[in-house]
This record gives sequence, C-alpha cells and structure tokens, in this order.
Amino acid sequence: MSTLRYIKAFISDRQVASITPTSPFGLRKLLRLLDLTQRVDIVEFGPATGVITRKLLGAMTADSRLIVFETNPDFVEELRRIEDPRLAVHNLPAQAMRGVLEERGITSIDTVVSGIPFSFLKPHERSSLLRDCRDLLRPGGKFIAYQVYGHLKKPLASAFNNVRIHVELLNLPPLVITESVREAEPEPA
Ligand SMILES: C[S@@+](CC[C@H](N)C(=O)[O-])C[C@H]1O[C@@H](n2cnc3c(N)ncnc32)[C@H](O)[C@@H]1O
Repeated sequence: MSTLRYIKAFISDRQVASITPTSPFGLRKLLRLLDLTQRVDIVEFGPATGVITRKLLGAMTADSRLIVFETNPDFVEELRRIEDPRLAVHNLPAQAMRGVLEERGITSIDTVVSGIPFSFLKPHERSSLLRDCRDLLRPGGKFIAYQVYGHLKKPLASAFNNVRIHVELLNLPPLVITESVREAEPEPA
C-alpha cells in the first residue's frame, strides 16, 4: 500500500493515528526485543499496512502463529492479501482478543505487539486491555507498545512490574517503545 493510501486512511479514520508506517530503524529496534528463534504465539494490535506483521512472519519459525487485530477495513483488505498459514487477520478491535483466543483454544501467548492509540480508549478500557494482555502472557512473555509513552505510563505500571523504555529518533514522529515483561508468579512459601 502506498504512503498516499496510508495518508487517506489517516484522514478518513481518526483511529489510524499516524501518517506513515513505522520506519526501518523503528522496526529494527522493536524486533531486537523479541526472540523469534523458538516457536511463539504472537498477537499484534493495529498492524495497519502490515510492516511489522511482514517482519514478524519473516523471522518466525514455521510452527509459530501470528494473530492480528485491525479495525480499519482498508488495512484489513491489504493484510488479507498476505498469504501465510501462520497469520490470522481479525477485523476486530484489540479489545476482542480474549474472546478470539478462547474461540481458537489458545490459553496463553508469548508476545503482544501493539501500535494502537491507547489514548483514544477510555481509562477503564485501557486498564482492562492491559490486564487481559498481562493475564494471557506466559511468564517471561512481553507486551511491546510503540507510541507516545505519556498515555501508557500509569496503566502500564499498574499491570506490569517490569517496564523498560526505548526511543528511536529515526522515525516520524520519534518512536517510544515500551517493553513490559510478565514476571513469573512467586513460588508459594
Ligand atoms: C499508528 S497505526 C499502526 C502503525 C503500524 N503498525 C506500523 O507499524 O506502521 C495504528 C493502527 O491501529 C488501528 N487501530 C486503532 N484502534 C484499534 C483498536 N482498538 N484495535 C485494533 N486496531 C486499532 C488503526 O486502524 C491503525 O491501523
């Protein structure tokens, strides 16, 4: 999809929240946070034209799975052109993740990669979605979000104990990537 079509989507749908896809520098920094050498189940929120989706598919093992949630129908049409049996594209909001995973018989996941504008969600929706992510992640699993950090700082801190921040300046606008790790539950005494 051309940048022009991306801009058109941005103009007609405020949920798109960005006029350009993530830059190659942003992609590299984000992918470095993931270990894709083993079989993994990944969920992606807001893939848009699929720049991250394609990179993930390129690096994932043959038995890994990638389940994506995208609300914009034009982007969904584009994503459905990717022919890969490991990819499932849902034209549903990220908030539908728990139900969709249940239907697919998936009880836990390794990673969530999120590009959705969390600032557009109501505070209770934001907290509830982050709690769902934390609860579904396996111990050691990661919730990775790239966006303006300010909106996520408080809700992330209430869902995860271990949050690290990375910045990529070679992106329009500069990309803030949060890496939140689901820690293992302490052993009962
Ligand atoms: C900033 S763009 C994502 C950028 C893209 N992943 C990239 O790397 O270039 C945000 C995307 O999230 C989608 N979106 C917004 N709210 C959403 C939600 N609640 N659930 C799923 N997708 C959503 C928008 O349609 C848009 O495609």
